[in-house]
Amino acid sequence: MSDLFSKFDDLIAMREGLLSTGVTDPFNLVMEKVESPTVAICNGRRTILLGTYNYMGMTFDPDVVAAGKKALDEFGSGTTGSRVLNGTYQGHRECEDALKDFYAMDHAMVFSTGYQANLGIISTIAGKDDYIILDIDSHASIYDGCAMGNAQIVPFRHNDIEALEKRLKRVPEGAGKLVVLEGVYSMLGDIAPLREMVRVAKENGAMVLVDEAHSMGFIGENGRGVAEAQGVIDDVDFIIGTFSKSVGTVGGFCVSNHPKFEILRLVCRPYVFTASLPPSVVATAATSIRKLMNSADKRAHLWENSKRLHAGLRQLGFKLGTDEPQSAIIAVIMPDLETGAAMWEALLNEGLYVNLARPPATPANMTLLRCSLCAEHTSEQVDEILGMFAAAGRATNCIS
Ligand SMILES: Cc1ncc(COP(=O)(O)O)c(C=O)c1O
Repeated sequence: MSDLFSKFDDLIAMREGLLSTGVTDPFNLVMEKVESPTVAICNGRRTILLGTYNYMGMTFDPDVVAAGKKALDEFGSGTTGSRVLNGTYQGHRECEDALKDFYAMDHAMVFSTGYQANLGIISTIAGKDDYIILDIDSHASIYDGCAMGNAQIVPFRHNDIEALEKRLKRVPEGAGKLVVLEGVYSMLGDIAPLREMVRVAKENGAMVLVDEAHSMGFIGENGRGVAEAQGVIDDVDFIIGTFSKSVGTVGGFCVSNHPKFEILRLVCRPYVFTASLPPSVVATAATSIRKLMNSADKRAHLWENSKRLHAGLRQLGFKLGTDEPQSAIIAVIMPDLETGAAMWEALLNEGLYVNLARPPATPANMTLLRCSLCAEHTSEQVDEILGMFAAAGRATNCIS
């Protein structure tokens, strides 16, 4: 009998090698209690959270929590059905209405996760004879959507406008073209040059989809994302987003002004063939989205936090993913996986949680300590975080 697990042998060896050094498993941490968007108990210790993507800190917002409890009482714990059968409740409609208002767009479709939103929209609109031109550093859900639809995939070098243009010009005459971009790339926290890229895509007759998972709620005057901040949102055909970051719950969505958009509800398999989100989840999402419309002060404070952490880490001597803070993600580049894991553990022992990211999820085989800031982090907490980085960095010889 062939062992279907033999393909994982290299990964198993890498994991065992890492754990044999005695380091805590960075991919197996348990949050024993969560006290707020910025503090949890891990290994019995108070831990500051700096790796949750809970950018706007909505998870403990009293209105959001109250909306979830009310929906749980009034509509029960789950829908037990697909959106196209018994799974569309009043709350799903209200959630889609909140998204339409938030983005000022005609259509909104809610999925059970952001992963499924990319999977569903991309695979449904771009099929076998169509071309998808995408940034090589795109999220796994984008690649999986391309594969599911069986489209021709044409990757281009990360954030390279000329490379995008060249690839577009090589697409056969008359073929369907979809350019897929992200507002913020979550590994290094850098943003896309959407103004130029959307222009190039349109000049070459392509439709454009932008995944704003890491920018919704925070970037842009109204928190609509990088496309808004760079003044091209009206030229973007589809915006994909998630409720699992700034919105503070779980779910995904696509918004669009395309006049035929609603037909997707009947043909998009990851929308049709799965159960819809529980009523409590869509109620929390709708409440959160509406509050995010009026959160300019929180957005301003989150920018302050991002700038403060970026400047402080640089001053300590850490190598960072971007020269300037471009989003609420600050990536600290580690020399290798062993040092990264040691630093991750040293930070945890100091009382700080960050994400350890390693190849193949990272670009250029980098090991990263990814920090994501929250609008609920106080300036004092950011200073405390910097103190922890200084201590852990010296203990692991990452800085002198
Ligand atoms: C760019 C991007 N798109 C989509 C997703 C998927 O979102 P969700 O957690 O809702 O499945 C993520 C999540 O990490 C992401 O980073």
